[in-house]
Amino acid sequence: MTDLWWKSAVVYQIYPRSFADADGDGMGDLRGIIDHLDHLAELGVDVIWLSPIHRSPQDDNGYDISDYQDIDPLFGDLATFDELMKGVHDRGMKLIMDLVVNHSSDEHAWFQESRSSRDNPKRDWYWWRPGREGMEPGTPGAEPTNWGSAFGGPAWEFDQKTGEYYMHLFSPKQPDLNWENPEVRQAVYAMMRWWLDRGVDGFRMDVINMISKVLPLADGRLTAGQAYADGSAGYINGPRNHEFLHEMYEQVFAGRDGLLTVGEMPGVTVDEAILFTGQERQEVDMVFQFDHVWADRGGDPWRVFPLQLTVLKGIFGRWQAGLAEEGWNSLYWNNHDQPRVVSRYGDDSPEFRAASAKMLGTVLHLHRGTPYVYQGEELGMTNYPFQSITDFRDIEALGQFRQATEIEGREPADVLTVLRARGRDNARTPMQWDDSANGGFSTTTPWLAANPNYPQINAKAERADPDSVFHYYRQLIALRHSEPAVVDGDFTMLLPNDERLYAYTRKLGGTELLVIGNFTGETIEAEIDGWDGAELVLSNLPANGLTMAPWQAVVLRRTR
Ligand code: GLC
Repeated sequence: MTDLWWKSAVVYQIYPRSFADADGDGMGDLRGIIDHLDHLAELGVDVIWLSPIHRSPQDDNGYDISDYQDIDPLFGDLATFDELMKGVHDRGMKLIMDLVVNHSSDEHAWFQESRSSRDNPKRDWYWWRPGREGMEPGTPGAEPTNWGSAFGGPAWEFDQKTGEYYMHLFSPKQPDLNWENPEVRQAVYAMMRWWLDRGVDGFRMDVINMISKVLPLADGRLTAGQAYADGSAGYINGPRNHEFLHEMYEQVFAGRDGLLTVGEMPGVTVDEAILFTGQERQEVDMVFQFDHVWADRGGDPWRVFPLQLTVLKGIFGRWQAGLAEEGWNSLYWNNHDQPRVVSRYGDDSPEFRAASAKMLGTVLHLHRGTPYVYQGEELGMTNYPFQSITDFRDIEALGQFRQATEIEGREPADVLTVLRARGRDNARTPMQWDDSANGGFSTTTPWLAANPNYPQINAKAERADPDSVFHYYRQLIALRHSEPAVVDGDFTMLLPNDERLYAYTRKLGGTELLVIGNFTGETIEAEIDGWDGAELVLSNLPANGLTMAPWQAVVLRRTR
């Protein structure tokens, strides 16, 4: 019987470069995390996930790894890592690492060898291809396929020395590893075992549904006005994805207890997720799907639509129903790639920020699945007021801005509007610890400016105020630990056609919970029968039956 401890767990994500800077270089580090472990223990989370801290040129803030078995000197060293791991374990929490193996850095020794000559034994560890038939290699349009890369420009880079192209679905400094080659897989599994032997408790697997490419590689569909095609049909949930993850399970995880594995899977469908997370299949414990964070773009990444609550409910409802019998959901609003949810789906004005942050947390956490809290979410941190493109540091924002304005001819102001709402740097501004300079993150100018609202929104103030977002998140996390219906209860969506209220029940044996969230700034009467006299479990504002104040959340319980 597999141990399913993570069904009642809550995970906290740390983005180390923005968490806490102990050595005063403007960049967060492992010592800074050690110094703040009590904050996380007090919050009550069970697991800490660290975004990459491995040795890296930092082209994509560490998602480009040049040595999988070392710590980047920016963050510390292996001895400090062991100290951090001990500090986490001593507090009864677990630690999981980011696993970035769809690609490595171009500065990894494997790639250096691979690119050194066409007959190097590691040549086939990456995706090398000649240019298009009949075209001069290295000229525009001669790339082996017409795919665009995630950060702008083509997904292929021409290598002068050997006269071929290599594939990079992300930046040219992130060449894709060739998982078709069994030696690559064995090298990755050995590295993973090395971390587990050291004491880590699992992995969050970066874009792990892109590791199996459709062969032969083929052009994608080109949309009018776009410089490069969407090649995703050629690499999302590819034909050998399940086989590779099951092989990984057998060679890395089998026989080890108490671990957590979560696969990041952009574009994954419910049907695929049932297969990836079905216990019997032995692939991963849970996946990150993206449907609910893409709900405000209506299929067009260059537009921002106001949230339609019925669309969001449709998405969650589908995922809850789809994984009800087989598989398991992960639940998140935020991570290092998403804007702050209180600014996105809530109201970050001073009047409603705290209430809406708590309401959003309530609605998310009480679904069936494992909730993830991203650093600062427990303080109700907001998006950053970006003024111009020079305020951004993210390779994605900068690359997409260049492609959109210089190649595709879009208006810079329009592109900026979208980046302001959705740019990843919104999530990456320094953690706000107190009201001292830079929010107490660093004594020097940080690598990315702190949000100017840190004098009002910071951990010190939140901890001192019993009515804060922080203390509310503590209650939410404690509720998952104490109420079995939150973990295992059946899920039923209510009011599916209501554009203002989000409501559902969770039912386990004789216990039933009702969760309601008001997604508006108006008072609304919730028309739900049968809950008169029910016990009030939690509310972010003074409760008054089912009269829902602006951004109010209410959780009720009844037993029979
Ligand atoms: C994932 C990461 C993101 C990174 C990309 C490439 O989506 O979360 O931050 O840029 O993969 O590794």
